[in-house]
This record gives sequence, structure tokens and C-alpha cells, in this order.
Amino acid sequence: MAGGSHRYETAPFLTYLAEVGGSHLHPGDDDATSALLRALAPQPKTRILEVGCGTGITLARVLHHVDLHMEGVDGSRSMLQLASRRLRACGLASRVTLTCACLEDVGWPAHSFHGAYAESVLGFQEEPVIRSCLRALFRALKPAGLLVLNDAIWKPDLDHAQIARVVQSSRADFGLPPATASGWDLARWELELSGAGFERVCSERLADLPPSSVPHLPEPAASRRFTRRRMLPSRLTPRLIIQRRQYHKKLEIHRTNWRFLESRLFVVRKPTGPTPSLG
Ligand SMILES: C[S@@+](CC[C@H](N)C(=O)[O-])C[C@H]1O[C@@H](n2cnc3c(N)ncnc32)[C@H](O)[C@@H]1O
Repeated sequence: MAGGSHRYETAPFLTYLAEVGGSHLHPGDDDATSALLRALAPQPKTRILEVGCGTGITLARVLHHVDLHMEGVDGSRSMLQLASRRLRACGLASRVTLTCACLEDVGWPAHSFHGAYAESVLGFQEEPVIRSCLRALFRALKPAGLLVLNDAIWKPDLDHAQIARVVQSSRADFGLPPATASGWDLARWELELSGAGFERVCSERLADLPPSSVPHLPEPAASRRFTRRRMLPSRLTPRLIIQRRQYHKKLEIHRTNWRFLESRLFVVRKPTGPTPSLG
């Protein structure tokens, strides 16, 4: 696992999730990953990047089914350690490069990847970080390369004072906002994505996607076994038992805030023609 500079500090809630071996830490769970992978359609002999790969389940899903090379980047060493152990347990480690780096610092060589994706990573970052990350991803993709994002975003026309209250209480309880602090809604996200140079393919609400009875590129059994083994000790550790109860209560309280949010699957493409000057 390669290292990087470390300005990134994991939010307390994400540290807890890494400790308990949490998986599918994004809106829509397993089904949303299936929808994302259908949209991305990873092909053999290509290179695909996952930004904020967490404990590596989606990496394992793709690598198990498709003969390609992947890169996973995450700012949390404990998340990446789990991803690395999971991929070894699945016999997939030789086809993945894992790098510990914060989004604020990453810059990939131009035209490195055929596709890239992130599940619940960009949506809650500071706005300048999102912009620089989108620019870095645009540069790193090959022409016609797809970027697919699953993120919670704000519903349109919300009151800014309301957004500020939700952001503040989420930061206090979890160490991170549920979506951008300045309230980016669908129109704003689409503007930012096109401002970074991408062409829109679609921006579906996860709730509107047809239910999938069969998971696409399903999680390998070895990965599921790894999660079960990993979660067992945390169920018996008193400190983590207390933390689980506390987070459970907080999540219940914050559930009412979900009415302000919607989860979207953004699919955008790097154009094949000459890249316009993006300023
Ligand atoms: C909500 S979790 C999602 C993890 C994984 N994508 C999943 O769906 O299970 C967000 C992940 O992004 C990583 N992350 C968040 N902010 C980051 C940043 N600024 N730089 C690098 N990684 C970051 C966290 O460490 C965490 O693993």
C-alpha cells in the first residue's frame, strides 16, 4: 500500500465504521453499487480508479468478475488496511494498487484511466476540494472515459438557514456534513460537473432506479466471509458496543433530516474531442 502526505483527518464516525469493518458506506447500499457498476460497465484489460474506496468491497466485486487493473485511493489508513486485507483474502491483491492519500493532494497522470467512480466521497467535501478533485479526475480519464458518482445531495429550493442547521448538527454528531455545506443541489452539481469539462450522461435519483433482483457483479463469497470475521470482534468489544448504541441513537435523530436530501447517481463522460480551456 503506497503512502502519501496526510492533511486528511478521518471524521470520528468514519473511524468508528473502519474499526467495526463497516461496508457499503453509501446511500442505497448494495443495489446502488449494482446500478453504479452497470453504468460504469468495466471492461477487461482496462484501468479503473475508485476514489474513497473505504474497506474495498466494490473493488473486490469488480476484480472478481472482470480481468482488469484497479486503483483505490483513500485518506484513511485503517480503511485501506481493511481493503488490502480483504483483497488478499479474495486472492485479488495482485491486480489492485491501493494508495493512502487525501483528495486535496491527489493528481493522477493524464489519460491514466478508462473509468472512475466514487461512492459517497465527493458529496460531503469542502467545495474547493470537490472542484479540484473533479478537475484531477477529468485530467486522469482517457477520452470517452466515464465518471460515476453516488452521492447524497440537497433537494432544490431549501432554506439556507435550514441547511446550515443540518450541517452543524451532523458535524457535531458525526464529524462531517451529510452533503456540501453550501447546499449544492442537482442543478449546481450538474453545473460543477460541466464546469470541470464533463458531458452529462444522466443524474438519476437512486429512488427512481428500477429495483434489481439480481446484484450486478455480486460480492465474492470470500469478501462476505471477510466482513463477517472482521465484524465479530467489534460486537464483543465494550467500547465499540457503547459507540454502536450511541451512533444508532444519533442516526435515528438525524433520520428526520433525510427529507432535505436525495441520493443521485451521476454519470458523466470526458468528451472525445479537444478539451476546452477550463480556466
Ligand atoms: C462514506 S465512506 C465511503 C466508503 C466507500 N466508498 C463505501 O461506499 O463503502 C467515505 C470514504 O472516503 C474517504 N474520504 C473521505 N474524505 C476524504 C478525503 N478528503 N481524502 C481521502 N479520502 C477521503 C473516507 O476515508 C472513507 O473511506
